Amino acid sequence: MQRDMRAVCDKHGITVCAFYPLGAPYLEIRTEEHPPLVEHPLVAKIASQRGKTTAQILLRHLIQHGLIVIPKSVRVERVKKNFQVFDFELSAEEMAQLDTLNRDGAGRMFTCDFYKGFERHPEYPF
Ligand SMILES: NC(=O)c1ccc[n+]([C@@H]2O[C@H](COP(=O)([O-])OP(=O)(O)OC[C@H]3O[C@@H](n4cnc5c(N)ncnc54)[C@H](OP(=O)(O)O)[C@@H]3O)[C@@H](O)[C@H]2O)c1
Repeated sequence: MQRDMRAVCDKHGITVCAFYPLGAPYLEIRTEEHPPLVEHPLVAKIASQRGKTTAQILLRHLIQHGLIVIPKSVRVERVKKNFQVFDFELSAEEMAQLDTLNRDGAGRMFTCDFYKGFERHPEYPF
């Protein structure tokens, strides 16, 4: 979740938009230890307790962290459900549990490394 970068943005009043707010399940490399976030047992447990979908839990978690979320779906039902995240609030305990899914750099899927010379930018790795 790039906490350091978000802290700098907070300090300067810059609002951050989540890239892959659902963890881009079509790109995630599935392992036993790290299943796609929309299928993760912890997210599923909170979703079941709340009567929500895993996607709604993931989106709400980001929103409560002050992030903008623009989830994409080609399915109308999912688009509608993905909007229904303003009628509940995750508790501090649920937020802390979901925060444990943060993998910092290890979970980063979009590295921009296809831009040649990117790593020579003076502010790399941002
Ligand atoms: N400018 C750029 O270079 C760039 C690059 C990447 C992304 N983006 C933007 O960022 C936004 C999101 O990116 P993204 O689509 O890659 O990542 P994402 O929103 O994290 O994931 C979208 C994927 O999640 C699935 N999904 C959606 N709702 C779901 C639900 N309720 N339950 C389970 N799965 C669900 C979608 O499948 P279905 O469609 O089959 O529902 C789709 O495969 C998009 O608006 C995209 O345009 C921009």
